[in-house]
Amino acid sequence: MKKTAMLLMTVCIIMILSMPAGAQQTISLPPPHTDGGMPLMKALKNRQTNREFSTAKISDQVLSDLLWAACGINRPDVRKRTAPSAMNYQEIDVYIATAEGLFLYDAGKHALLGVSKTDVRASTGSQAFVATAPLDLVFVADYSKMGKSDDKSKENLGMADAAFISENVYLFCASEGLNTGVRAMIDKDVCGKALQLKDNQHIMLGQAIGYPKAK
Ligand SMILES: Cc1cc2nc3c(=O)[nH]c(=O)nc-3n(C[C@H](O)[C@H](O)[C@H](O)COP(=O)(O)O)c2cc1C
Repeated sequence: MKKTAMLLMTVCIIMILSMPAGAQQTISLPPPHTDGGMPLMKALKNRQTNREFSTAKISDQVLSDLLWAACGINRPDVRKRTAPSAMNYQEIDVYIATAEGLFLYDAGKHALLGVSKTDVRASTGSQAFVATAPLDLVFVADYSKMGKSDDKSKENLGMADAAFISENVYLFCASEGLNTGVRAMIDKDVCGKALQLKDNQHIMLGQAIGYPKAK
């Protein structure tokens, strides 16, 4: 009996130690500022792709506002989002890669879920600037939330849904004075491993974000 208890305790300790650090940790974001920002027509005038970033960190408040703008819940009564979604599948998981680790956006809680404490930014794209951005988003379609259609249809709809989210991020960045660039050039095997994706999760696009370098 004593031996069994000891064995069980040892197994528990090994399981706890082998869990990735930061996994499942929930980090609440400050409530988003949903008023203000630049007038829409001015943000559209400023929208552009930039691939150079300073090392300046993005504050929790700006990250909160950015994620809400990307695909946060803007109608809590029906749990719908700032970005449209084919068939309202809401299948796009937004991964957030920073120097501090990898997180998943939980729109319902408006919080970050810890995935790992590893800096995987360099694995989220095939271009050198990706590792230099303080923030890299990866838009991943969860095909298990997309009904019974074939994978090609799911890929098409997933790409469209990810692109809407990306454009929201572009407009938020234009309004906030942030640089950003969307990316299809991603080594999906490398990125999928870094993000610890399951078979039903498929990478659509990545997007790098950061403040401009001082001129
Ligand atoms: C679907 C899509 C995929 C893209 N993939 C990449 C990419 O992998 N790497 C990159 O540097 N830029 C990428 N871009 C950014 C385009 O190169 C950029 O939007 C284009 O040059 C027009 O510039 P603008 O966004 O400033 O108008 C992509 C844009 C779109 C819409």
